[in-house]
Amino acid sequence: TTVEWEAESYDMAGHDTYMHKEITEQADAVDRVLRGRIDDRFATVHLGGLNLDAREARSVRRVKILGCGSAYHAGLIGAQLVEELARIPADAEPASEFRYRNAVVDPDTLYIAVSQSGETYDTLAAVQELKRKGARVLGVVNVVGSAIARETDGGVYVHAGPEICVVSTKCFTNTAVAFALLALHLGRIRDLSVADGKRIINGLRRLPEQIGEIMKLEPEIRKIAAEYAEAKSMMFVGRVRGYPVALEASLKLKEISYIHAEAYPASELKHGPLALIEPAVPTVAVLPDDELLDKNRATLEEIKARSGRILAVAHGEQEQADHTIVVPRNEVELDPILMGIPLQLLAYHTALALGRDIDKPRNLAKSVTVE
Ligand code: G6P
Repeated sequence: TTVEWEAESYDMAGHDTYMHKEITEQADAVDRVLRGRIDDRFATVHLGGLNLDAREARSVRRVKILGCGSAYHAGLIGAQLVEELARIPADAEPASEFRYRNAVVDPDTLYIAVSQSGETYDTLAAVQELKRKGARVLGVVNVVGSAIARETDGGVYVHAGPEICVVSTKCFTNTAVAFALLALHLGRIRDLSVADGKRIINGLRRLPEQIGEIMKLEPEIRKIAAEYAEAKSMMFVGRVRGYPVALEASLKLKEISYIHAEAYPASELKHGPLALIEPAVPTVAVLPDDELLDKNRATLEEIKARSGRILAVAHGEQEQADHTIVVPRNEVELDPILMGIPLQLLAYHTALALGRDIDKPRNLAKSVTVE
């Protein structure tokens, strides 16, 4: 299936920035990446361009995901989904690192290149090096017919529509959803049960409406952003499912607000960054409702004890937090998809409060097509 990009105009449609327009388009974008792909009969999905038959999918022993910037972060979410749903060992690495480290290219590994533009030079170079060594490489790409889409053996189009703002929002979300589809597909060829397949499909179908719910939180998030805009630095923490969300939210904030931000696994805080915690360095904690929630709450207590301010993103009010952004509950595996969205709004409103040039942050380009 090809996507009708003309359907979505390049004008700002009443928004002050492309970033704001693109954030608000996410419910429709997610609807589009799901459209025509769900197969209820077998509790799986059809991915027409994958070019990987069931026998080949069964012989994959490892998945390695490569991308840069937000694409890399979406790949980290993707790796967790593949490992959880398909039980294939999976990890993600910046393509820019991978291409320079003479990595061992293993014939039983499925390589996946992730890119909005499909033109990022580091990612393309990694694909070309892998292909030269005989690896099988798929693409999870937004721009149809782009260089990475052409040079890979197959893949999943992200169907986010045109993304103009330098920082990625709707494409990031849609890429994570595309990985959920791929993980579900691989899982249902391997050991994922029909019941779990159905559970994930139902969860995916609820995403657009739940994204709509999150958009209603914008006035509240704007107020919170105004309070945190004078922070000298911000700490983003999460465990396992929450960690890639923390990484992406921290990147988003630094890109457009120029506030220094760091992301850490919540479990690593005590091994160093806790030294930074003080009232001028607030913490944003990403708290999926999974088996790690109690551990995460203990981390919040540690931050509180050092008089750190806390903004939690969770499914219910957190008593240790100064503010909680309450996100609708879905299947825990899909939490990283939903929990990133309010933090896009947080970065946006923080940058707006500081008067930044949101669509064109200093020193950055939408796609880096050179070394
Ligand atoms: C640039 C942009 C980032 C983007 C990255 C990867 O660095 O500033 O926002 O995430 O490239 O771009 P891609 O088009 O490959 O997803």
